[in-house]
Amino acid sequence: MALLDLSGVHKAHGDGPNRVPVLRDVSFAIAPGEVCAITGASGSGKSTLLNLIGLLDRPDSGRLLFEGEDVARATPDRQARLRSRRIGFVFQSFHLLPRLTALDNVALPFLYRGLSPRACRGHAAAMLQRVGLADRAGHRPEELSGGQRQRVAIARALVGRPALLLADEPTGNLDSGAARRIIDLFFELNAETGVAVVLVTHDPGIAARCPRRLTMDDGRLTADGRDPP
Ligand SMILES: Nc1ncnc2c1ncn2[C@@H]1O[C@H](COP(=O)(O)OP(=O)(O)OP(=O)(O)O)[C@@H](O)[C@H]1O
Ligand SMILES: [Mg+2]
Repeated sequence: MALLDLSGVHKAHGDGPNRVPVLRDVSFAIAPGEVCAITGASGSGKSTLLNLIGLLDRPDSGRLLFEGEDVARATPDRQARLRSRRIGFVFQSFHLLPRLTALDNVALPFLYRGLSPRACRGHAAAMLQRVGLADRAGHRPEELSGGQRQRVAIARALVGRPALLLADEPTGNLDSGAARRIIDLFFELNAETGVAVVLVTHDPGIAARCPRRLTMDDGRLTADGRDPP
């Protein structure tokens, strides 16, 4: 079964005369464990698409199945539960909480699930170690480099063992060396845990490293290229 299956998805933004179609008849599926880049010009609908996939927004029409479930019509509670259990998010600007240490930023998703603080911190410490930041656990985001902040965000996204990791220009604020190491980390974590990765990027070099590349143009999916298996 596909992890994610979109068919005939449409989405418009704005109201009345300002209403603009942003996604037009988008259809594709992502298999469990797949790594896929989404590229396309600014304004082509990449973030809108990622927000739909991440259940942060709903299509206007069309079908969106997550692990076989019709999530476009799920209740807000059901969507929130899937978001917190099955999907991890990473953003260009990291979105860490500034007053919390790296460890507590990573522990937060577990705390929301009602695990004991001690167990949460244990999971978080193990995940921070995995992303190479064991020695920065007590630092706040402002005391970390951009690449380190993104590692904390990746640890937070993956600590709950989601099936799908969504990343919207995760290397947009990083220099090329830090960017390469972040993409290396995505591939390592994909291989270790089987998490599927869908990654929006403007960087052709990063897209070329992904075995599958979707291209958006003015709200349409115009190319779906795969490396031979
Ligand atoms: N909340 C909104 N209200 C109205 N229009 C919106 C909204 N969000 C996005 N849009 C419009 O939808 C279109 C697609 O936006 P989107 O953010 O998905 O593009 P993108 O491909 O991610 O671009 P970028 O590469 O610049 O991040 C744009 O024309 C944008 O102006
Ligand atoms: Mg965008």
